[in-house]
Amino acid sequence: MMQDKLQAIQAEAISLIRAAEKPERLHDVRVKYLGKKGELTGLLKGMKDISPAERPKVGQMVNDTREAIEAVLEEVKAGMDKKILEAKLQEEVIDVTLPAQKKGLGHRHPNTIAREEVERIFIGMGYEVMEGPEIEYDLYCFEKLNIPADHPAKDEQDTFYINKEIVLRTHTSPVQARAMEKGKLPLRMIAPGRVFRSDEVDATHSPSFHQIEGLVVDKNLSFADLKGTLAVFAKELFGAETKTKFRPHHFQFTEPSAEVDVSCFKCGGSGCRFCKGTGWIEILGCGMVHPNVLEMCGIDSEVYSGFAFGMGLERIALLKYEIDDMRLLYENDVRFLQQF
Ligand code: PHE
Repeated sequence: MMQDKLQAIQAEAISLIRAAEKPERLHDVRVKYLGKKGELTGLLKGMKDISPAERPKVGQMVNDTREAIEAVLEEVKAGMDKKILEAKLQEEVIDVTLPAQKKGLGHRHPNTIAREEVERIFIGMGYEVMEGPEIEYDLYCFEKLNIPADHPAKDEQDTFYINKEIVLRTHTSPVQARAMEKGKLPLRMIAPGRVFRSDEVDATHSPSFHQIEGLVVDKNLSFADLKGTLAVFAKELFGAETKTKFRPHHFQFTEPSAEVDVSCFKCGGSGCRFCKGTGWIEILGCGMVHPNVLEMCGIDSEVYSGFAFGMGLERIALLKYEIDDMRLLYENDVRFLQQF
């Protein structure tokens, strides 16, 4: 009678196990038949009603049934696990023949390369790199640089006005005034940045371009210091053979003032298409800081003197990388940029 019961339980459990399609179902079966409140455990609890002589035999039979069910459970579970793993592997298979997803790397802009090169040279000479605002007070852009409102020199720079007092800076020279006003002397700085002029776009002009300003203020500075500094700079930037030439010029905020030419690094000075046959290429404006400017920025011009210079970054980039149209610098065409 007990044997029949056990056989019925075993058959029922095994058919349920075989019919299960997921591991959760197997777990349910295990609980139902082998668990603490399961059917087999229930039978063992009924042992007290069986005669002591019969007990070992019945106990053995229950254990056999339990083992038989366990064995099928294990077998079916192993089969299921294998199928699940195979499906997963199938799903995650990597097709090595598919084309790779390439992420195009960008490229540093010639302006950036040129700016970093100029910065490297001046940092090497002990200069600090500073910045000033692109939207600037007329006061710093003109007044403090010795360019009063009614002066014709102000007309030379066609300016974008925000209102009567605020402009888009036309040069990086206002950073000179801002640096001097801070009052920390001696001062040795460069200031790269964007400037704006109301110019038409062509091969050499743009309403927005970049300059790098330079300023040194100290005791006993002379024009010789300016000349020496810029001569070293030109050799570093364009090659050790480069010569420099200072031509007298006029800027309101420097006195005396000069424009600086470098010997053509293409032909070495004999004259070529690059230097338009002259052997020289203009690269910057400079001069000794005007005493009025020093005084307006709170510096005693009897004790201190200074020199300043300013160059167009695009011009340097165009020269250095032999680019013949400035507009190429603003198109951000990777095919162009990747050449440098
Ligand atoms: N600010 C001048 C310009 O834009 C350049 C310059 C800077 C000249 C410093 C002298 C000294 O043309």
